Amino acid sequence: MMIKNICCIGAGYVGGPTMAVIAQKCPHIKVTVVDLNQDRINAWNDSDLSKLPVYEPGLDKVVEEARGRNLFFSTDVDQAIDEAEMIFISVNTPTKTYGVGKGMAADLKYIELCARQIARVAKNDKIVVEKSTLPVRTAQAIKDILDHTGNSVNFQILSNPEFLAEGTAIEDLFSPDRVLIGGDTSSEGQKAIESLVAVYANWVSRDKILTTNVWSSELSKLTANAFLAQRVSSINAMSELCEKTGADVSEVAKAIGMDSRIGSKFLKASVGFGGSCFQKDILNLVYIAKSYGLNEVADYWEQVIIMNDHQKRRFSKNIISTLYNTVSGKKIAFLGWAFKKDTNDTRESAAIYVADDLISEQALVAVYDPQVQETQILSDLNYLESRTEMENKKYIHVASNPYVAVENSHAIAILTEWDEFKDYDWQKIYDSMLKPAFIFDGRNLLNKEQLENIGFVYQSIGS
Ligand code: NAD
Ligand code: UDX
Repeated sequence: MMIKNICCIGAGYVGGPTMAVIAQKCPHIKVTVVDLNQDRINAWNDSDLSKLPVYEPGLDKVVEEARGRNLFFSTDVDQAIDEAEMIFISVNTPTKTYGVGKGMAADLKYIELCARQIARVAKNDKIVVEKSTLPVRTAQAIKDILDHTGNSVNFQILSNPEFLAEGTAIEDLFSPDRVLIGGDTSSEGQKAIESLVAVYANWVSRDKILTTNVWSSELSKLTANAFLAQRVSSINAMSELCEKTGADVSEVAKAIGMDSRIGSKFLKASVGFGGSCFQKDILNLVYIAKSYGLNEVADYWEQVIIMNDHQKRRFSKNIISTLYNTVSGKKIAFLGWAFKKDTNDTRESAAIYVADDLISEQALVAVYDPQVQETQILSDLNYLESRTEMENKKYIHVASNPYVAVENSHAIAILTEWDEFKDYDWQKIYDSMLKPAFIFDGRNLLNKEQLENIGFVYQSIGS
């Protein structure tokens, strides 16, 4: 079937950019992105493109070209479902915060609500595409719900996980390493796969479009994130050993990365990985393994998270011990709050946990991030429930300018690798700080020699 009308439920970091690119590359397909969140939809429709709810380099241009032509954002979920031949589900699947599997399993309530809504509204056959990251075998649950509606509509369920990384989403969507589509092995399932392959084939070469059975596709997404996060935890583990032995983790990473079997990417030691995916997806994997009684498998992957928590904590501990074992009443300036550069997303950012540790020691934390607003920073801290909202407000200050953030501070901590930090006037910053002026570079971003020449006491990760 040649698809002419697509609906995507969920206008978030994945649904928004992914559908914008499909619409741009396929002018013959009408793409409607729907969400329950009116503010988000309003922001997607804002004529001022700097107000889009997701900050991604290049996204504004894509939206500008397609919006109003064949790309639409709306809160009318029923109408969009009714009109579409193909429905992507791209809603959030956070870690459960209650009940069985609390703190580990993926919360599938939003997915189920979507399935029930599709079942209620659909009057003709539909292809339902899992775009959200889901536990292996979720397609079965969706199918059960859809098949029991009694209105004789036929549904095909496909799994089409998204591999984009934030900050490079548009680049990743334009030239993906691969597109993965899983579907039923029946001839109906194969036809559904072909119709989604045809959508991507408008701009992705067919040899990069991989088709599998549904379960392999679902599990490949969790596996990819687990492997990527494992690389970061592995190099971070070595960073601590480097600090004890005089080795330099950047040199070690380069040396091992030149082995083509290892590869050079994703070996940057850091204050710890963040983002909405890695931790959530590994915890989910651990939960699934445990639910099949595979305790060794579960323990193996859980270590990736344990190492990451350790890396965040040891960064804050090092700040405290270096500042003469007390940060009470001291001003510590954070450059960066987002979980990586080129995004306004702060979910699970290491900055949140480091700030929380320092505030527990009564430090005053002044934050500057080029894309993150004060309300977001406060809500990230409040979410941890470590203290009252009033207290968080007392200890955290958000500056609209980096030079204000660092003024009269005892130390600077680099939490995000924003390029602009490298180009600051570091002499001016040094002059405005208390001495000794410390820098804790959680991203190995700055030039050690230059800063030491100015007079800073500079510490990075893994050397
Ligand atoms: P998000 O929270 O940014 O967006 C999800 C959106 O879905 C929200 O705007 C929410 O209001 C909406 N929503 C929830 N239930 C709804 C319903 N019943 N009807 C209509 N709208 C509803 O999440 P995200 O970062 O876009 O992630 C979505 C999925 O994609 C997750 O499963 C995630 O694991 C996966 N994923 C994310 C990334 C990433 O980089 N963020 C990458 C790959 C995969
Ligand atoms: C990740 C996956 O890369 C992507 O394929 C998937 O679709 C979603 O999850 P994302 O979380 O957006 O993407 O960003 P990513 O570039 O993977 O970075 C995740 C975290 O790891 C960031 O906090 C980043 O700073 C950190 N990281 C990454 C390191 O500390 N060192 C590295 O070498 C790479």
